[in-house]
Amino acid sequence: MPEYKVNALEEGFGAEVTGLDLSAEVDAATVARLRRQFHDSQLMVIRDQHITPQRFLWFARHFGEPQPHILAHLRHKEVPEILPLSNIFEDGKPIGVFDGAAFWHQDMAYEDVASNATIVHALEVPVEGGETLFADMWAAYDALDETTLERIAGLVARHRYGNRSDEQYETRAKAMELTEDEQQDVHDVYHPIVLPHPVTERPALYGVTSTSRGIVSMDDAPGLALLDELAAHAAQDRFVHTHRYQAGDIVLWDNFSLMHKATLIDRARGPGTRRYLHRISTKTVPN
Ligand code: SIN
Repeated sequence: MPEYKVNALEEGFGAEVTGLDLSAEVDAATVARLRRQFHDSQLMVIRDQHITPQRFLWFARHFGEPQPHILAHLRHKEVPEILPLSNIFEDGKPIGVFDGAAFWHQDMAYEDVASNATIVHALEVPVEGGETLFADMWAAYDALDETTLERIAGLVARHRYGNRSDEQYETRAKAMELTEDEQQDVHDVYHPIVLPHPVTERPALYGVTSTSRGIVSMDDAPGLALLDELAAHAAQDRFVHTHRYQAGDIVLWDNFSLMHKATLIDRARGPGTRRYLHRISTKTVPN
């Protein structure tokens, strides 16, 4: 396997891998190195990949068990583990998640087993817009003062699909609406708000935005006020990084140490404006 290169994506954050071809044979040692790199970097971008949806699924399996998305009506027809993200419309309907992820969240925090990693393959990218923003929840945790650390130690949040901040009004940034069938899968789940990473053991703030609806053992008002305070803390510019996609990027993000949000983008109007990404979220870090 030819030597590939790893550089920081930006100073002190993320990793960029070049010179690797995932369509060719990839040996176990390379996969193990990529996995280590990913867990050290939180956000890892592998440039210039031209692989089929099936090969993309094969690659994703090395980072966890692919978790088909609750938005069953949008799943990829041949590989249902893939959820397309897109601003392309056919017959008046988006062919993937459009406008449905432009709020801070951690993928599948509304599931009993939340997602450890999300992996996207950027197939078409617009000339302008379509970035994803990431907030570093390790850094956000490290920056909390002693009083707050004591206040939040051992607290558990209750989660449910959606975004608690905007359900009272109409906004393009609302969570994607579920069909009646999909709503049958919605239920409350519980996750700690300080989460030690399953691989690195480093503690992060977890699930303080969107899907969290309250804190167990606290009344609604003070519980939500605390979640809002922690969410505002974590979304400060000093913790936020922006990824601008290049066509061919495979981007892996660690859901336990990063929260993210899509940026709003207009509907595609032709060449240079189309955004089409394949996304797989995984759960349970493999040994
Ligand atoms: C997501 O939240 O999974 C999608 C992010 C994006 O479309 O930029």
